[in-house]
Amino acid sequence: MLFSGLAEVGDDPILLVSTMFKASQDPNKVDLGVGVYKDAKGNTAILNSVKKAEQFLVDNQATKTYLSPAGNPEFNKLVQDMLIGADHRSVSENRVSTFQTPGGTGGVRIGLEFVKACNPNANVWISNPTWPNHTAITKSLGLNPKQYRYYDIKQGQFQYEEMLEDLSGADVGDVVILHGCCHNASGADLSNAQWDELAALMLEKGLVPFVDFAYQGFGDGIEEDTYAARVLSTKLPEALIASSCSKNFAMYRDRAGAITLVSSSADEHSKNASHMLSAVRATYSMPPDHGAAVVAHILGNPDLKAEWVSEVDEMRERVKKMRGTFVEKMNEKAPNSGFGYIAEQKGMFSYLTLEAEQIQTLINDHSIFFMGNGRVNMAGLTDDNIDYVTDAIASLFKS
Ligand SMILES: Cc1ncc(COP(=O)(O)O)c(C=O)c1O
Repeated sequence: MLFSGLAEVGDDPILLVSTMFKASQDPNKVDLGVGVYKDAKGNTAILNSVKKAEQFLVDNQATKTYLSPAGNPEFNKLVQDMLIGADHRSVSENRVSTFQTPGGTGGVRIGLEFVKACNPNANVWISNPTWPNHTAITKSLGLNPKQYRYYDIKQGQFQYEEMLEDLSGADVGDVVILHGCCHNASGADLSNAQWDELAALMLEKGLVPFVDFAYQGFGDGIEEDTYAARVLSTKLPEALIASSCSKNFAMYRDRAGAITLVSSSADEHSKNASHMLSAVRATYSMPPDHGAAVVAHILGNPDLKAEWVSEVDEMRERVKKMRGTFVEKMNEKAPNSGFGYIAEQKGMFSYLTLEAEQIQTLINDHSIFFMGNGRVNMAGLTDDNIDYVTDAIASLFKS
Protein backbone atom coordinates (compact mmCIF):
# COMPACT_ATOMS: atom_id res chain seq x y z
CA MET A 1 0.00 0.00 0.00
CA LEU A 2 1.34 3.39 -0.97
CA PHE A 3 0.44 5.13 2.29
CA SER A 4 1.67 2.50 4.71
CA GLY A 5 5.48 2.69 4.56
CA LEU A 6 6.19 5.99 6.30
CA ALA A 7 7.97 6.44 9.60
CA GLU A 8 6.61 9.12 11.92
CA VAL A 9 8.26 12.55 11.70
CA GLY A 10 9.11 13.74 15.24
CA ASP A 11 7.34 16.82 16.61
CA ASP A 12 8.99 20.17 15.99
CA PRO A 13 10.91 20.93 19.24
CA ILE A 14 9.28 24.36 19.49
CA LEU A 15 5.80 22.82 19.33
CA LEU A 16 6.80 20.39 22.08
CA VAL A 17 7.74 23.33 24.31
CA SER A 18 4.33 24.94 23.64
CA THR A 19 2.52 21.69 24.43
CA MET A 20 4.44 21.30 27.70
CA PHE A 21 3.68 24.91 28.64
CA LYS A 22 -0.05 24.47 27.97
CA ALA A 23 -0.19 21.19 29.90
CA SER A 24 1.61 22.59 32.98
CA GLN A 25 -0.66 23.25 36.00
CA ASP A 26 1.98 25.38 37.75
CA PRO A 27 0.48 28.86 38.41
CA ASN A 28 4.00 30.36 38.08
CA LYS A 29 4.73 28.81 34.67
CA VAL A 30 6.56 31.01 32.16
CA ASP A 31 6.71 30.55 28.38
CA LEU A 32 10.07 31.63 26.94
CA GLY A 33 9.75 29.23 24.03
CA VAL A 34 7.40 30.26 21.25
CA GLY A 35 8.79 32.78 18.73
CA VAL A 36 6.24 35.58 18.94
CA TYR A 37 6.46 39.02 20.53
CA LYS A 38 4.61 39.45 23.82
CA ASP A 39 3.67 42.74 25.43
CA ALA A 40 4.11 43.75 29.08
CA LYS A 41 1.05 41.68 29.98
CA GLY A 42 2.31 38.62 28.10
CA ASN A 43 -0.16 39.04 25.20
CA THR A 44 0.44 39.04 21.44
CA ALA A 45 -2.05 41.79 20.62
CA ILE A 46 -3.17 43.09 17.22
CA LEU A 47 -1.49 46.45 16.49
CA ASN A 48 -3.77 49.53 16.40
CA SER A 49 -2.42 50.48 12.97
CA VAL A 50 -3.35 47.01 11.71
CA LYS A 51 -6.87 47.21 13.19
CA LYS A 52 -7.41 50.57 11.44
CA ALA A 53 -6.15 49.25 8.11
CA GLU A 54 -8.36 46.17 8.43
CA GLN A 55 -11.38 48.38 9.07
CA PHE A 56 -10.48 50.41 6.01
CA LEU A 57 -10.35 47.23 3.91
CA VAL A 58 -13.69 45.97 5.22
CA ASP A 59 -15.27 49.30 4.28
CA ASN A 60 -13.52 49.85 0.96
CA GLN A 61 -12.29 46.66 -0.63
CA ALA A 62 -14.58 46.08 -3.60
CA THR A 63 -13.55 42.66 -4.90
CA LYS A 64 -11.86 39.45 -3.92
CA THR A 65 -11.07 38.35 -7.43
CA TYR A 66 -7.66 36.82 -8.11
CA LEU A 67 -4.50 38.90 -7.73
CA SER A 68 -1.52 37.58 -9.69
CA PRO A 69 1.43 35.30 -8.87
CA ALA A 70 3.51 38.39 -8.01
CA GLY A 71 0.84 39.52 -5.52
CA ASN A 72 -0.13 43.08 -4.64
CA PRO A 73 2.03 45.53 -6.70
CA GLU A 74 1.59 48.37 -4.19
CA PHE A 75 2.75 46.10 -1.36
CA ASN A 76 5.73 44.96 -3.43
CA LYS A 77 6.84 48.52 -4.14
CA LEU A 78 6.39 49.78 -0.57
CA VAL A 79 8.14 46.75 0.95
CA GLN A 80 11.03 47.08 -1.51
CA ASP A 81 11.43 50.77 -0.64
CA MET A 82 11.53 49.84 3.05
CA LEU A 83 14.14 47.12 2.45
CA ILE A 84 16.66 48.67 0.10
CA GLY A 85 15.37 52.22 -0.51
CA ALA A 86 13.76 53.72 -3.62
CA ASP A 87 17.17 55.23 -4.52
CA HIS A 88 18.90 51.83 -4.72
CA ARG A 89 20.99 51.55 -7.88
CA SER A 90 19.24 48.36 -8.98
CA VAL A 91 15.91 50.26 -9.16
CA SER A 92 17.05 52.80 -11.76
CA GLU A 93 18.87 49.99 -13.59
CA ASN A 94 15.66 47.87 -13.81
CA ARG A 95 17.24 44.81 -12.24
CA VAL A 96 15.27 44.37 -9.05
CA SER A 97 11.78 42.98 -8.33
CA THR A 98 9.87 42.17 -5.18
CA PHE A 99 7.26 39.42 -5.15
CA GLN A 100 4.69 39.07 -2.37
CA THR A 101 4.86 35.64 -0.72
CA PRO A 102 2.96 33.78 2.03
CA GLY A 103 5.08 34.99 4.98
CA GLY A 104 8.86 35.08 5.14
CA THR A 105 8.86 31.28 4.90
CA GLY A 106 7.21 31.55 1.48
CA GLY A 107 9.94 34.04 0.52
CA VAL A 108 12.71 31.65 1.58
CA ARG A 109 11.02 28.79 -0.26
CA ILE A 110 10.46 30.67 -3.53
CA GLY A 111 13.96 32.19 -3.33
CA LEU A 112 15.49 28.75 -3.00
CA GLU A 113 13.21 27.40 -5.77
CA PHE A 114 14.77 30.10 -7.93
CA VAL A 115 18.28 29.06 -6.86
CA LYS A 116 17.35 25.51 -7.86
CA ALA A 117 16.21 26.72 -11.29
CA CYS A 118 19.66 28.35 -11.68
CA ASN A 119 21.62 25.36 -10.39
CA PRO A 120 19.89 22.19 -9.14
CA ASN A 121 23.09 21.21 -7.29
CA ALA A 122 23.81 24.57 -5.67
CA ASN A 123 25.56 24.68 -2.31
CA VAL A 124 23.57 26.66 0.25
CA TRP A 125 25.61 27.87 3.24
CA ILE A 126 23.61 28.08 6.45
CA SER A 127 24.72 29.48 9.80
CA ASN A 128 25.25 27.12 12.73
CA PRO A 129 22.95 27.57 14.59
CA THR A 130 20.00 28.89 12.59
CA TRP A 131 16.24 28.86 12.13
CA PRO A 132 15.69 25.16 11.35
CA ASN A 133 13.60 25.82 8.23
CA HIS A 134 16.69 27.05 6.35
CA THR A 135 18.04 23.52 6.35
CA ALA A 136 14.63 21.86 5.94
CA ILE A 137 13.73 23.89 2.83
CA THR A 138 17.20 23.52 1.31
CA LYS A 139 17.03 19.76 1.76
CA SER A 140 13.46 19.41 0.55
CA LEU A 141 14.49 21.07 -2.73
CA GLY A 142 17.41 18.68 -3.16
CA LEU A 143 19.92 21.52 -2.83
CA ASN A 144 23.14 20.95 -0.93
CA PRO A 145 23.18 22.43 2.62
CA LYS A 146 26.60 23.45 4.03
CA GLN A 147 27.20 24.91 7.48
CA TYR A 148 29.31 27.86 8.51
CA ARG A 149 30.22 28.49 12.14
CA TYR A 150 28.36 31.45 13.61
CA TYR A 151 27.76 31.14 17.34
CA ASP A 152 29.24 28.85 19.97
CA ILE A 153 26.27 28.04 22.21
CA LYS A 154 28.39 26.39 24.94
CA GLN A 155 30.77 29.36 25.30
CA GLY A 156 28.16 32.02 24.48
CA GLN A 157 30.41 33.45 21.77
CA PHE A 158 29.79 34.96 18.35
CA GLN A 159 32.21 33.32 15.88
CA TYR A 160 32.78 36.04 13.32
CA GLU A 161 36.35 34.99 12.42
CA GLU A 162 35.27 31.36 12.10
CA MET A 163 32.39 32.44 9.86
CA LEU A 164 34.81 34.22 7.51
CA GLU A 165 37.17 31.26 7.57
CA ASP A 166 34.38 28.82 6.60
CA LEU A 167 32.98 31.08 3.89
CA SER A 168 36.47 31.55 2.47
CA GLY A 169 36.26 27.87 1.54
CA ALA A 170 33.02 28.30 -0.45
CA ASP A 171 32.97 27.99 -4.24
CA VAL A 172 32.00 30.56 -6.87
CA GLY A 173 28.19 30.62 -7.20
CA ASP A 174 27.52 29.19 -3.72
CA VAL A 175 24.56 30.79 -1.96
CA VAL A 176 24.98 32.09 1.61
CA ILE A 177 21.92 32.54 3.82
CA LEU A 178 22.48 35.46 6.20
CA HIS A 179 20.13 36.76 8.88
CA GLY A 180 19.49 40.43 7.99
CA CYS A 181 19.29 41.39 11.68
CA CYS A 182 18.34 39.84 15.03
CA HIS A 183 19.89 36.46 14.26
CA ASN A 184 17.48 33.65 15.17
CA ALA A 185 18.51 31.95 17.42
CA SER A 186 21.57 33.67 18.91
CA GLY A 187 20.68 37.39 18.90
CA ALA A 188 24.30 38.00 17.77
CA ASP A 189 24.55 40.30 14.74
CA LEU A 190 27.46 41.53 12.64
CA SER A 191 28.47 45.18 13.12
CA ASN A 192 28.18 47.45 10.07
CA ALA A 193 31.96 47.25 9.58
CA GLN A 194 31.75 43.45 9.66
CA TRP A 195 28.96 43.46 7.05
CA ASP A 196 31.23 45.60 4.84
CA GLU A 197 34.08 43.16 5.28
CA LEU A 198 31.84 40.15 4.60
CA ALA A 199 30.42 41.80 1.46
CA ALA A 200 33.99 42.33 0.18
CA LEU A 201 34.90 38.69 0.87
CA MET A 202 31.74 37.48 -0.89
CA LEU A 203 32.45 39.67 -3.90
CA GLU A 204 36.01 38.35 -4.11
CA LYS A 205 34.83 34.73 -3.85
CA GLY A 206 31.83 35.12 -6.18
CA LEU A 207 29.30 34.12 -3.51
CA VAL A 208 25.60 35.01 -3.67
CA PRO A 209 23.91 36.52 -0.60
CA PHE A 210 20.46 35.29 0.43
CA VAL A 211 19.39 37.67 3.20
CA ASP A 212 16.62 36.36 5.44
CA PHE A 213 15.09 39.47 6.98
CA ALA A 214 12.37 38.42 9.40
CA TYR A 215 12.80 41.02 12.17
CA GLN A 216 13.10 44.42 10.50
CA GLY A 217 12.62 47.03 13.24
CA PHE A 218 13.41 44.69 16.15
CA GLY A 219 17.17 45.37 16.15
CA ASP A 220 17.98 49.11 16.12
CA GLY A 221 15.13 50.55 14.03
CA ILE A 222 13.28 50.02 10.74
CA GLU A 223 15.80 52.03 8.74
CA GLU A 224 18.91 51.10 10.77
CA ASP A 225 18.21 47.37 10.43
CA THR A 226 18.45 47.52 6.63
CA TYR A 227 22.25 47.89 6.63
CA ALA A 228 23.04 44.26 5.73
CA ALA A 229 20.36 44.00 3.03
CA ARG A 230 21.49 47.29 1.46
CA VAL A 231 25.23 46.74 1.59
CA LEU A 232 25.05 43.19 0.25
CA SER A 233 22.63 44.08 -2.55
CA THR A 234 24.75 47.12 -3.49
CA LYS A 235 28.26 45.67 -3.33
CA LEU A 236 27.35 42.37 -4.99
CA PRO A 237 25.84 42.03 -8.46
CA GLU A 238 23.19 39.47 -7.47
CA ALA A 239 21.19 39.02 -4.27
CA LEU A 240 18.03 37.52 -2.82
CA ILE A 241 16.22 39.03 0.18
CA ALA A 242 13.36 37.19 1.89
CA SER A 243 11.38 39.45 4.19
CA SER A 244 8.56 38.90 6.64
CA CYS A 245 5.77 41.11 7.99
CA SER A 246 4.85 38.52 10.62
CA LYS A 247 6.78 40.04 13.53
CA ASN A 248 6.93 43.75 12.77
CA PHE A 249 3.23 43.97 11.85
CA ALA A 250 2.29 41.28 14.42
CA MET A 251 0.33 39.57 11.64
CA TYR A 252 1.77 36.12 12.12
CA ARG A 253 -1.21 34.15 10.86
CA ASP A 254 -1.99 36.43 7.93
CA ARG A 255 1.13 35.27 6.08
CA ALA A 256 2.53 38.45 4.57
CA GLY A 257 6.09 38.40 3.28
CA ALA A 258 8.15 38.85 0.15
CA ILE A 259 11.12 37.74 -1.89
CA THR A 260 13.24 40.42 -3.54
CA LEU A 261 15.48 39.48 -6.45
CA VAL A 262 18.42 41.60 -7.59
CA SER A 263 19.99 40.49 -10.88
CA SER A 264 23.22 41.63 -12.48
CA SER A 265 21.56 43.32 -15.49
CA ALA A 266 18.12 44.32 -16.78
CA ASP A 267 18.34 41.66 -19.53
CA GLU A 268 19.08 38.88 -17.09
CA HIS A 269 16.49 40.23 -14.71
CA SER A 270 13.45 39.83 -16.93
CA LYS A 271 14.35 36.17 -17.55
CA ASN A 272 15.04 35.62 -13.86
CA ALA A 273 11.75 37.20 -12.81
CA SER A 274 9.87 34.82 -15.13
CA HIS A 275 11.44 31.85 -13.28
CA MET A 276 10.44 33.30 -9.94
CA LEU A 277 6.83 33.59 -11.13
CA SER A 278 6.91 30.11 -12.59
CA ALA A 279 8.01 28.77 -9.16
CA VAL A 280 5.10 30.64 -7.54
CA ARG A 281 2.56 29.24 -10.03
CA ALA A 282 3.73 25.69 -9.50
CA THR A 283 3.68 26.05 -5.70
CA TYR A 284 0.62 28.07 -4.60
CA SER A 285 -0.43 29.95 -7.74
CA MET A 286 -0.60 33.28 -5.94
CA PRO A 287 -0.16 34.61 -2.39
CA PRO A 288 -3.09 35.41 -0.04
CA ASP A 289 -4.33 38.99 -0.19
CA HIS A 290 -5.34 40.15 3.25
CA GLY A 291 -2.05 40.59 5.17
CA ALA A 292 -0.28 42.29 2.28
CA ALA A 293 -3.27 44.57 1.62
CA VAL A 294 -3.13 45.68 5.28
CA VAL A 295 0.63 46.33 5.05
CA ALA A 296 0.22 48.26 1.78
CA HIS A 297 -2.49 50.43 3.30
CA ILE A 298 -0.37 51.21 6.37
CA LEU A 299 2.86 51.94 4.48
CA GLY A 300 1.03 54.01 1.88
CA ASN A 301 -0.68 56.26 4.42
CA PRO A 302 1.70 58.65 6.26
CA ASP A 303 -0.37 58.95 9.47
CA LEU A 304 -0.93 55.24 9.75
CA LYS A 305 2.68 54.56 8.91
CA ALA A 306 3.83 56.90 11.70
CA GLU A 307 1.54 55.07 14.13
CA TRP A 308 2.93 51.71 13.00
CA VAL A 309 6.53 52.92 13.34
CA SER A 310 5.86 53.95 16.93
CA GLU A 311 4.25 50.56 17.62
CA VAL A 312 7.38 48.81 16.27
CA ASP A 313 9.56 51.13 18.37
CA GLU A 314 7.57 50.18 21.44
CA MET A 315 7.97 46.43 20.79
CA ARG A 316 11.73 46.78 20.23
CA GLU A 317 12.26 49.00 23.26
CA ARG A 318 10.31 46.67 25.53
CA VAL A 319 12.48 43.68 24.59
CA LYS A 320 15.62 45.79 25.00
CA LYS A 321 14.46 46.91 28.42
CA MET A 322 13.75 43.34 29.53
CA ARG A 323 17.21 42.30 28.32
CA GLY A 324 18.77 45.07 30.43
CA THR A 325 16.66 44.28 33.51
CA PHE A 326 17.47 40.57 33.18
CA VAL A 327 21.21 41.29 33.22
CA GLU A 328 20.92 43.73 36.14
CA LYS A 329 18.98 41.22 38.19
CA MET A 330 21.32 38.35 37.36
CA ASN A 331 24.32 40.51 38.30
CA GLU A 332 22.69 41.14 41.69
CA LYS A 333 21.45 37.62 42.34
CA ALA A 334 24.34 35.58 40.88
CA PRO A 335 27.27 37.92 40.20
CA ASN A 336 29.41 35.31 38.41
CA SER A 337 26.70 33.86 36.20
CA GLY A 338 28.08 35.68 33.13
CA PHE A 339 24.88 36.74 31.35
CA GLY A 340 26.11 40.24 30.43
CA TYR A 341 26.04 39.34 26.74
CA ILE A 342 22.22 39.15 26.84
CA ALA A 343 22.00 42.97 27.01
CA GLU A 344 24.22 43.34 23.92
CA GLN A 345 22.28 40.96 21.70
CA LYS A 346 19.44 42.01 19.40
CA GLY A 347 15.88 40.93 18.73
CA MET A 348 13.82 38.44 20.64
CA PHE A 349 16.19 35.49 20.94
CA SER A 350 19.30 34.57 22.89
CA TYR A 351 20.82 31.42 24.28
CA LEU A 352 21.17 30.98 28.03
CA THR A 353 24.66 29.56 28.43
CA LEU A 354 23.75 26.72 30.79
CA GLU A 355 24.48 23.02 31.11
CA ALA A 356 21.85 20.58 29.81
CA GLU A 357 20.92 19.53 33.39
CA GLN A 358 20.48 23.14 34.46
CA ILE A 359 18.10 23.70 31.54
CA GLN A 360 16.12 20.62 32.55
CA THR A 361 15.96 21.88 36.17
CA LEU A 362 14.47 25.18 35.01
CA ILE A 363 11.90 23.34 32.89
CA ASN A 364 11.02 20.51 35.29
CA ASP A 365 11.37 22.15 38.71
CA HIS A 366 10.48 25.76 37.92
CA SER A 367 8.09 25.41 34.94
CA ILE A 368 10.12 27.88 32.87
CA PHE A 369 9.67 26.51 29.37
CA PHE A 370 12.18 27.12 26.57
CA MET A 371 14.17 25.19 24.00
CA GLY A 372 16.31 22.32 25.25
CA ASN A 373 19.36 23.92 23.60
CA GLY A 374 18.94 27.01 25.80
CA ARG A 375 17.23 29.35 23.30
CA VAL A 376 14.92 31.77 25.07
CA ASN A 377 12.48 34.35 23.75
CA MET A 378 13.33 37.44 25.78
CA ALA A 379 9.93 38.94 24.85
CA GLY A 380 8.39 36.33 27.16
CA LEU A 381 9.82 38.23 30.16
CA THR A 382 7.51 40.70 31.90
CA ASP A 383 7.69 42.82 35.08
CA ASP A 384 5.46 40.16 36.67
CA ASN A 385 7.67 37.14 35.93
CA ILE A 386 11.23 38.49 35.76
CA ASP A 387 11.95 38.03 39.47
CA TYR A 388 10.62 34.49 39.38
CA VAL A 389 12.77 33.67 36.34
CA THR A 390 15.99 35.34 37.59
CA ASP A 391 15.58 33.78 41.09
CA ALA A 392 15.23 30.35 39.46
CA ILE A 393 18.31 30.85 37.25
CA ALA A 394 20.31 32.29 40.18
CA SER A 395 19.48 29.21 42.26
CA LEU A 396 21.45 27.13 39.73
CA PHE A 397 24.62 29.01 40.68
CA LYS A 398 24.31 28.46 44.45
CA SER A 399 26.15 25.43 45.75
C1 LIG B 1 14.95 33.68 10.63
C2 LIG B 1 13.53 33.55 10.22
N1 LIG B 1 13.22 33.55 8.92
C3 LIG B 1 11.97 33.45 8.49
C4 LIG B 1 10.92 33.32 9.37
C5 LIG B 1 9.56 33.18 8.78
O1 LIG B 1 8.59 33.98 9.22
P1 LIG B 1 7.10 33.87 8.69
O2 LIG B 1 7.02 32.79 7.67
O3 LIG B 1 6.29 33.56 9.89
O4 LIG B 1 6.81 35.20 8.11
C6 LIG B 1 11.17 33.30 10.75
C7 LIG B 1 10.10 33.12 11.70
O5 LIG B 1 10.24 32.75 12.83
C8 LIG B 1 12.52 33.42 11.18
O6 LIG B 1 12.84 33.42 12.47
